Amino acid sequence: MKKIAILASGNGTNAEQMVHHFENHPKATVALILTNRQQAYVLERAKRLGVPAFYFNKEQWSEGHEVLALLRQYEIDFVVLAGFLAYVPQVVLSCYNHRMVNIHPSLLPKFGGKGMYGDHVHEAVIEAGEKESGITIHYTNEHYDEGTIICQERCPVMPDDTPESLATRVHQLEYKYYPMVVERLVCEALTTATR
Ligand code: GAR
Repeated sequence: MKKIAILASGNGTNAEQMVHHFENHPKATVALILTNRQQAYVLERAKRLGVPAFYFNKEQWSEGHEVLALLRQYEIDFVVLAGFLAYVPQVVLSCYNHRMVNIHPSLLPKFGGKGMYGDHVHEAVIEAGEKESGITIHYTNEHYDEGTIICQERCPVMPDDTPESLATRVHQLEYKYYPMVVERLVCEALTTATR
């Protein structure tokens, strides 16, 4: 059984979708949720879903060794960022190179980088008069919203869209594709490992 950890900073709707997707899955499970915000609603969700969840403070995230120790303790094979708004420590990045992915609510490289998260992204997309938006799933590296792109999915931006209505459309893409892509990557890694 492959074990997945989710890193999230906020509401955690993607985290919840991911947990449900892997419930009763024969090959993988969400074994751990980590956050950098003590008040993050994802902690409530984790409690309800019965997934162990832990908060680490700013120093612990920038130093990284305690985070890595916990990932090792839970024998985590794959890390999924779902609305995680802090830097991933270098020690964790190195250890999970090509075994850690992020999702961003725009068609990167457009509307990515520092300060571009959640509704800020959708506001900027509307402001720029874009005709389409979407999601990008990519491997993580030491820069926000960079790293090799794994897949992008698109949706229209309507003339009367608000950041909220666009966010709802983009979230639907996230819920549909993120768990599927993670499943493919985790199970692919499984196949490679047993070759
Ligand atoms: C998601 O839309 C995700 O793409 C975005 O944060 C939201 C989290 O929502 N991530 C970023 O902006 C990363 N730069 P959620 O907490 O409800 O899953």
